[in-house]
Amino acid sequence: MHRHASALILIHWLTALVVVVAYLASGDPTKASHALSGQIHVASGLVVFLLVLIRLPLRLIVGVPAGEPAPRWQQRLARAAHSTLYGLLLAVPLTGWAELADKTSQFALFAWTLPLPDAQMIWVRALGAAHTVLGDALIWLAGLHAGAALAHHYLLRDGTLARMLPGRGWRTLFPPKT
Ligand code: HEM
Ligand code: HEM
Repeated sequence: MHRHASALILIHWLTALVVVVAYLASGDPTKASHALSGQIHVASGLVVFLLVLIRLPLRLIVGVPAGEPAPRWQQRLARAAHSTLYGLLLAVPLTGWAELADKTSQFALFAWTLPLPDAQMIWVRALGAAHTVLGDALIWLAGLHAGAALAHHYLLRDGTLARMLPGRGWRTLFPPKT
């Protein structure tokens, strides 16, 4: 069992946490009734975007360990799921930004006026319209992905989950079964 690089493990779990926060705080951030949750939604969504912007080049630089032995269809499915997750981690905050521009011309994130694209542009409206659907898709796919990781650990009994766990203490809680 070969672990992922520590920095990538840290970013993986931070991202998972912040995506869940963004989802729990979701709703229209421009509505007065969502004043606080809207701030949390936009801030956590932007953090997701920043984390993936750091993560992708870092992944290229440090690489990822070869996967645990598995049938080819599983390797392909995992690769497709991971690529789609990366795509959604980029697309969901970007479409959210466009959706925000479609709803308001000015949005203050805490004390900072968030720069927004011009909502008159057709691509801004088109992107914004996809935000809710893509946000839901991200949560569903992440849930399936987490289920697959747990199935690897408890049913297939391989080291897939342990590869993504940070330190010794965590790996004792989920010891690799091979
Ligand atoms: C991973 C990050 C994000 C996730 C998972 C996410 C998810 C969602 C979901 C599921 C909704 C629909 C809520 C509902 O109708 O009850 C929503 C709404 C919204 N989100 Fe996000 N979002 C994220 C990031 C962002 C960001 C970064 C922005 C802005 C910069 C943003 C702006 C909005 C806006 C304006 C709405 C209201 C849409 C509407 O009512 O038509 N989101 N988001
Ligand atoms: C919003 C939540 C999550 C997102 C967006 C997410 C995203 C990702 C992505 C993109 C990868 C591919 C890493 C790479 O090869 O570069 C990955 C790997 C992994 N994730 Fe998640 N993940 C989430 C939650 C979880 C949860 C809850 C678990 C465990 C229950 C989990 C377990 C794993 C494991 C074990 C790997 C490594 C797979 C391997 O090395 O073959 N993830 N995740």
